[in-house]
Amino acid sequence: MNAVTTIERPVDTSRLRGFVTALADLIACTRDEQALLESGRTLLARLIARDDWLPPEYARPDPDRYQQYLLHCDSRERFSVVSFVWGPGQSTPIHDHGVWGLVGVLRGSEQVERFHRLPGGGLVAQGSDLLREGEVDAVSPRISDIHRVSNGRADAPSVSIHVYGANIGAVERATFAPDGTPKSFISGYANRVIPNLWDRSRNA
Ligand SMILES: [Fe+2]
Repeated sequence: MNAVTTIERPVDTSRLRGFVTALADLIACTRDEQALLESGRTLLARLIARDDWLPPEYARPDPDRYQQYLLHCDSRERFSVVSFVWGPGQSTPIHDHGVWGLVGVLRGSEQVERFHRLPGGGLVAQGSDLLREGEVDAVSPRISDIHRVSNGRADAPSVSIHVYGANIGAVERATFAPDGTPKSFISGYANRVIPNLWDRSRNA
């Protein structure tokens, strides 16, 4: 009997390469967070406007928990780009980031619940939004840094592309119990290899 081998056609990674290059240029020009978020939002919206560039291995859900795949980390760890993949019914714990971040939905939708932490440590709910395909949200300690994110679709995975102002998988952050009790964590990443963005022989 002949073995059947399925070969996945490589996707065009030039869009992602263009995005990380533009982001590096932006960060070289300014460290002003508001300017970074505004211009970074435009770049991310442009990246997620088309859904033909993310290699399928970085959009793969896991039956047990949401996945966080590193797509690129700046060589000086000034920023990282990550794909988040949510299976049906999956959500994060309530958590913070400690750095600026942008979240853009590539596929499906995400429910975002925001929280404010009182000086005494308690959490106050600040509302909830459904983020749809093509939409971008921002987080940072300066504006609003604590949230819980869930898959907005009950019957299919959702995928979002996140950008953070650090190597986010290595940042010591906190999750919070509903009463506001913090617990520190370092997320790491689900993948051991990252996409090859730099083979220009495949696509200019
Ligand atoms: Fe988050």
